[in-house]
Amino acid sequence: MSYSRIAGTGSYLPEKILTNADLEALVDTSDEWIVERTGIRQRHMAAEHQTTSDMAYEAALRAMDMAGVEPSEIGFLAVGTTTPDLVFPSTAVLLQERLGLPHVGAMDVNAACTGFLYALSIADKWIRVGDADKALVIGAECLTRIVDWKDRGTCVLFGDGAGAVVLEASDEPGILSTHIHANGEHVDLLRSRRGISTGFDFDLHNGGVTIEMKGNEVFKVAVRTLGRIVDETLAANNMDKSELDWLIPHQANLRIIAATARKLNMTMEQVILTVQNHGNTSAASVPLALDTAVRDGRIQRGHKLLLEAFGGGFTWGSALVQY
Ligand code: ACO
Repeated sequence: MSYSRIAGTGSYLPEKILTNADLEALVDTSDEWIVERTGIRQRHMAAEHQTTSDMAYEAALRAMDMAGVEPSEIGFLAVGTTTPDLVFPSTAVLLQERLGLPHVGAMDVNAACTGFLYALSIADKWIRVGDADKALVIGAECLTRIVDWKDRGTCVLFGDGAGAVVLEASDEPGILSTHIHANGEHVDLLRSRRGISTGFDFDLHNGGVTIEMKGNEVFKVAVRTLGRIVDETLAANNMDKSELDWLIPHQANLRIIAATARKLNMTMEQVILTVQNHGNTSAASVPLALDTAVRDGRIQRGHKLLLEAFGGGFTWGSALVQY
């Protein structure tokens, strides 16, 4: 078997919705500003006791159901998340038990918004070297727990959710290539200031772990970097942009997505866009968008998909997939 292919997709969004009008009551903002600058109209918010693994669990069940795969068949689990339930055990280990997976390797991958593509890249290789026949790959986040609800520059952007795919070994393509990168040079443009070994600061809101972002500067780097990763991905596959059927971008900002689509000469009809419904769900956003378009029938077997993401770190990545 020389490829891994996507056998099923699933996603989950929590019930509670926070609209732009709700945010107008919290900070000095407007529906008009948020829609014009980001494309976001609403975001979903986990219930008080709902965790990242709760959302990931639902998405995983749906992906396994679509794939017709039993938990006992899964040979590897990777979860992209920046907002794990606990310091340890990892979210993946909690899910191994709850989903009833065999005692297979299960790991979290922290790469902010690129987490799903990092996890996909690892699982793809795991399958291609023959260490697993089927793998579960999840992106799940509970970002609203680390949002500073007094900062209008960030609180309008983020939401909670989860997306998942089941990969299986296949003679047919499949995931054609994955590309992941990191550059810690601009850490101060987008970060959470506190963690375990730096010590939580309980004088600061949420212990200092809230998201801090210089949005405008991040925006410029994101557009440049995504342009480069798109070129890298097409070149690695000796493929012309006209051969792509769908762009499935990280759902952070409609303007960033439109810039990447322009670079690929793709119309917005060829872009899977879900940011308006759930805002930036970080590692969950690419599999959420993928699942939406698989289930509504836009993405069909044989279509060529370009998945891409950019996020805190900075990290960035892509995958070229024949669905
Ligand atoms: N409502 C009203 N006004 C606002 C809001 C708001 N919610 N937020 C900021 N403003 C104001 C600013 O204060 C500023 O006012 P000023 O001109 O008086 O100083 C003005 O709007 C313009 O601010 P900018 O930051 O320049 O606005 P911009 O057009 O860049 O949009 C945004 C901001 C939406 C954050 C954009 O920069 C962006 O999307 N950046 C990239 C985000 C991203 O992709 N992050 C990576 C992934 S996230 C992760 O990995 C966790």
